[in-house]
Amino acid sequence: MQKLLYLTDSYRKKLETEIQKIVRKGSVWHIFLKDTIIYPEGGGQPSDLGIINGKTGKARVLKAIFTSEGVLHECQVEGVIKAGDRVTIYLDWKRRYLNMRLHSAGHILHEAVATLFPQLVPVSANHSENNTLIRYRGEIPIGKAGEIERIANGIVDSNVSITSAFVTYDQLVQQASFVPVHLPKNKPLRIIQVQGFQPIPDGGTQVALTGETGLISIPKIVNHDGLVDVYYSIEKQTTAVIPDILEASPYSVSDLTAELIQIQTETIDQINNIDLPDFELRQKALGQTSRFSNLAKKIRDIPQKERSQAGIIINEVKNAIETALSHKFTRKHKSQGFFDPTLPGIKPKLGHLHIVSQAIEEITRTFERIGFTRVRHPEADWDYYAFEALNMPPNHPARDEWETFFLSYPGENKKDLTKKMVLTPHTSNGQVREMEKGIFPIKMINIAKCYRRQSDVSHASMFHQFEGLYIDKNVSIAHLKGVIEYFVKSFYGQDRQIRLRPFHFQFTEPSFEIDVTCGICHGQGVRADNEPCRLCKSGWLELGGAGMTHPNVLKAGHVDTSIYNGFAFGWGVERTYMMKSSTNLDDVRILYQNDIRFLEQF
Ligand code: PHE
Repeated sequence: MQKLLYLTDSYRKKLETEIQKIVRKGSVWHIFLKDTIIYPEGGGQPSDLGIINGKTGKARVLKAIFTSEGVLHECQVEGVIKAGDRVTIYLDWKRRYLNMRLHSAGHILHEAVATLFPQLVPVSANHSENNTLIRYRGEIPIGKAGEIERIANGIVDSNVSITSAFVTYDQLVQQASFVPVHLPKNKPLRIIQVQGFQPIPDGGTQVALTGETGLISIPKIVNHDGLVDVYYSIEKQTTAVIPDILEASPYSVSDLTAELIQIQTETIDQINNIDLPDFELRQKALGQTSRFSNLAKKIRDIPQKERSQAGIIINEVKNAIETALSHKFTRKHKSQGFFDPTLPGIKPKLGHLHIVSQAIEEITRTFERIGFTRVRHPEADWDYYAFEALNMPPNHPARDEWETFFLSYPGENKKDLTKKMVLTPHTSNGQVREMEKGIFPIKMINIAKCYRRQSDVSHASMFHQFEGLYIDKNVSIAHLKGVIEYFVKSFYGQDRQIRLRPFHFQFTEPSFEIDVTCGICHGQGVRADNEPCRLCKSGWLELGGAGMTHPNVLKAGHVDTSIYNGFAFGWGVERTYMMKSSTNLDDVRILYQNDIRFLEQF
């Protein structure tokens, strides 16, 4: 047996129940529920509205009527709802409470009318908001409205209770002040009683206290055809104390969901039916003062532990509204269908070389002008070329300076230290490889990726070096100095100077570090205002290593040291280029993060 909970608890706004039956009728669905709080129209009271919310779909109640199978909810359905689904009904409480107040006011009015005119027989009533009236058989003399109003409002003011009880037909006949001609056959019989008056048969929803209706007024009384219509209305808002029960349940996710779903349906209806400029329509639907935004703010009232769930629902509703907006906009602009062939076309974006590739190009061109040739050597190479051939036998402590990535490979013998493979930690692996070609003189410029186990703001684990090697007859430090000076002046500017600072590398002897005068303070170390230079501090910037090729390296490359000797230098591409453009990167790793906003600046 379906429980009609609106009869026993007219203040119930939410109910969890189950779908018993759902059938499609044209564009709407007929839903029967195990139990309901939705009042079906009848007894002069209009039908309730509400939302039936399932896990996979929701139904908007357009109307409910009473049938032999119980309350039929006529609904619009979104998503999927099927028999057996657990659902939650959310009542449109604002509408219901108004209907309840109007209905109870009708009963109070009746008690006032019956007090003055006991011979009148009630015929029918309309307790909906428009044309609200009670119709009696009989007549009311002109000028009685004020008196009826006074009695009715006396009952309102006294704020007495309105109670109800289920009864048998016999009890009803015995207790009620009148018995309607057509008593409903398939509904439970109920009487209600305004405290101090005789019970009346009624199946509607009533307020608990007469004060809740607010003051009653009678705009007109119309006698016609042996009948009299007593029209009435109630205050828009009551000043009466509404019982606590209204505020009893805290605002929960389900309450918010119910309201959101309603706003979603209504907003989408609006979007589809209102013609406004795109911007205004969006503003109306989702703007700061939209109903949606106002409701979304209520998330603050939701208990903490349900808030994230509320957030998800708010987002879903927002997305649904967004989608409706964009569909509307596309529909609208499509239907306008105007194509202007005179509009200029859209230019494709032009790309350009990565800043490091540009630097490599420029370095290559600069060395090519003095007869160097760019070569390439393996990026994954034997330990032999990276270290051993460069005068650093296995376990030599100097190796530690290159924080090397070692590679394993199929068939590797881990014990054989001479057969290890590395990701080249510097471009010097190209030196002996180039010598092994046996073609002299050698004037190579080897530019390649290098890898070291380091990553911080000034080091990326992958970077680039360019390695120069010159092997010929009678090569001296003067040649080394000349080549470097040439490079520095053409790359950085004629005013730049270099200096060679003694250093140590295993593969060159003697070895140097090359410094260049600072482009900001011109080697002074101080600015015009005598403050220390912020870029270099000392007047010099460090370029990188160089030196005269060590005889052991020449021997490893099968070079006849009685004929040939040479020099080598190896510098970082990124560093060299940054020094030119005075681009001070807070973090060099950004070069390799493919952030177009950074890269397109160069
Ligand atoms: N390979 C050295 C480094 O990575 C640089 C260098 C190259 C030094 C050639 C001397 C000669 O630091």
